Amino acid sequence: MLGQQDFDLVLELAERFQAIPSRGPRRLPALQGRLVATLFFEPSTRTRSSFELAARRLSADVASFAPASSALVKGESLLDTALTYAAMGAELLVVRHSGSGVPAALAQALEAMGHKVAVLNAGDGLHSHPSQALLDLFTLARHFAPRQPAMQALAGRTVAIVGDILHSRVARSNLWALSAAGATIHLCGPSALLPDCFADFLAAMPPGCDTDPVPQRGEVRLFRNLEDALTGVDAVITLRLQKERAQRHLIPNLEDYHRAYGITHGRLERCRAGAPVLHPGPVNRDVELSSQLLADPQRCLVNRQVSHGIPIRMALLYLLATTL
Ligand code: CP
Repeated sequence: MLGQQDFDLVLELAERFQAIPSRGPRRLPALQGRLVATLFFEPSTRTRSSFELAARRLSADVASFAPASSALVKGESLLDTALTYAAMGAELLVVRHSGSGVPAALAQALEAMGHKVAVLNAGDGLHSHPSQALLDLFTLARHFAPRQPAMQALAGRTVAIVGDILHSRVARSNLWALSAAGATIHLCGPSALLPDCFADFLAAMPPGCDTDPVPQRGEVRLFRNLEDALTGVDAVITLRLQKERAQRHLIPNLEDYHRAYGITHGRLERCRAGAPVLHPGPVNRDVELSSQLLADPQRCLVNRQVSHGIPIRMALLYLLATTL
């Protein structure tokens, strides 16, 4: 669990990596001779590619595991897959899995077996997506304080998180990250996708954490009505609606969902002037976000989020590599 200084260290490093000119030589020698393996047991476009680009920009070698064409289909276990990459010399394993807690369990198992390998969580089940929350934080901090994007930029601000909170690891990680910065968080969605218990989300420490390193967190408030949730907020994060939720009758249908919870230019008028909208991607156009808003780079920071994924993941790989 990160404290404010840890978050600031990542943001500061990411800002330095972001400042490297986009043309000309971009590789830094920091991870020369190190091997990073990306073990994605679930699909990904943004997270996998940006971790791999980040590793290469730090001069690391990259081994990319593709489950469908791997020995996994012959029955090799997840642990044996990780051990295979460790035997090839991988010191940093970037792991995405549909099971909550898998990257942490893998890290524990490897440590118990005496391997000096760091495991980075690239999204696990419903549990967390830490690098996404960090890039969201970076994007918001750069928006509000372009000269010095730090946690302080979010203190006293209000951010609405809208949509399928229940099934979102991004929302959970953002709750920890934004509240650590001192932001107030408005959670908004229908009760099937946002149970009342989320009002107390920050009261229970995650497994393995006894104390909170953040002395005073921002508040969490629940809303069912989008107009109320957006009133006066500084920024909006909307989440991907997994379409099977409609098939499972958690929402009536996608059109009704868009009418009730879709973010549009008109809806943003409730927010503070110029408030931006973020989305982790992939986006269901005209479900959680209108196509018109998605195409407006003044208000919609989706592309900036994607590009910020690289310096944030460079910072994470760099920091972890220095602990080994
Ligand atoms: N935001 C995110 O995790 O996207 P990908 O699934 O494409 O990695």
